[in-house]
Amino acid sequence: MSPTASEPTHRFLRACRRLPVDRIPVWMMRQAGRYQPSYRKVRERVGFLELCRSPELIAQVTAAPIDEFGFDAAILFSDILIHLPAMGLDLSFEKGEKGKGDGGPRIANPVRTRSDVEALRIPDPQRDLPYVGEGIGAIQRALAGRVPLIGFVGGPFTVASYAVEGGSQGFTRLKTMLYADPDAARALFEKLTRAAIVQLQAQVAAGAQAVQIFESWLGELGRDDLEEFSFPYLARIAEAVRPLGVPAILFSTGTSTHIEAMARLGYDVLSIDWRIPIDEARARAPQMAFQGNLDSTLLLGPRETLLRRVRALLAAGSRRPGYICNLGHGIVPQTPPENVKAAVEAVHAFAVAGA
Ligand code: CP3
Repeated sequence: MSPTASEPTHRFLRACRRLPVDRIPVWMMRQAGRYQPSYRKVRERVGFLELCRSPELIAQVTAAPIDEFGFDAAILFSDILIHLPAMGLDLSFEKGEKGKGDGGPRIANPVRTRSDVEALRIPDPQRDLPYVGEGIGAIQRALAGRVPLIGFVGGPFTVASYAVEGGSQGFTRLKTMLYADPDAARALFEKLTRAAIVQLQAQVAAGAQAVQIFESWLGELGRDDLEEFSFPYLARIAEAVRPLGVPAILFSTGTSTHIEAMARLGYDVLSIDWRIPIDEARARAPQMAFQGNLDSTLLLGPRETLLRRVRALLAAGSRRPGYICNLGHGIVPQTPPENVKAAVEAVHAFAVAGA
């Protein structure tokens, strides 16, 4: 553990450090989002990027799920692509179709060539993203110490997939770049790594108490490509977080074949999806804390199935300290809020062995 961090008191931070807890901590990715009537109400008035750029609204939507559901951690409301305009990319979010679909990201001038990569600037968080630091200050005032705040950035591979494809259009162009122009790909990952590090440093300086790296699409790469094009950059990010004294969580999906390798990258916590039983994942990397891994679809119901699966997950995940209950990916917009509430209550009702 970092010499600057005294033993944390909050159960989420304790679990990150594999310390014993009174109750299993629970939070959910996308806990602030469209499944919440209160979020939809804010979004009726403001666009998604406008919301991400307003410190007052950031604080309001970040704190709402804590008030409404009693989660054990808050996550900064922002996006993994928020810094791309400062890097020189023309980012917008398309309006989802009424009642369905996502307001997906779109980049009008995607990165396709070596000179496109060279033109990318490293953002200065103070100058380019002042609303993030101000938002963190406003969140901390709204939370008033109730729960810790998680900051985040996107992982280099995942952010690159949007930057190169121009949106949520798959991975073919980016993967072709790895093979056809590996130097350009490496230069891109290098810049995205530096951009991630400066943002994490600024977020922690502003008051974030843990950080999560969203490397959502890592499962697209095979082992050789992970070793060459992802793991060195993820290890650099972990190394940069260590002196900040806050725990670092690596989130990815489709990567359960690589747990041992991911456990060597320098993170405190691995966040995994539902493709592997949690106890099997834990046995494969006993030195790590784990976060996950409920299938988000279970939150759609039926309620009894959801609660039975939550309890089974807790029993399997919490045999040793170092377990944080979460989903394997984000909450989907169709989720009934009552089911989220029932799941959080079930986690908090679960008696931790030895506590
Ligand atoms: O988890 C949280 O509650 C914190 C806020 C947060 C958002 N995006 C808000 C958001 C976080 C941590 C993210 C990360 C993010 N953004 C990821 C990684 C996590 C993942 O889901 O894999 C990715 C890939 C993005 C990029 C992105 N942002 C996409 C592809 C989309 C559209 C599709 C979708 O899932 O909604 C967004 C928009 C977005 N980011 C919304 C929210 C609440 C919906 C915007 C709206 O209000 O219409």
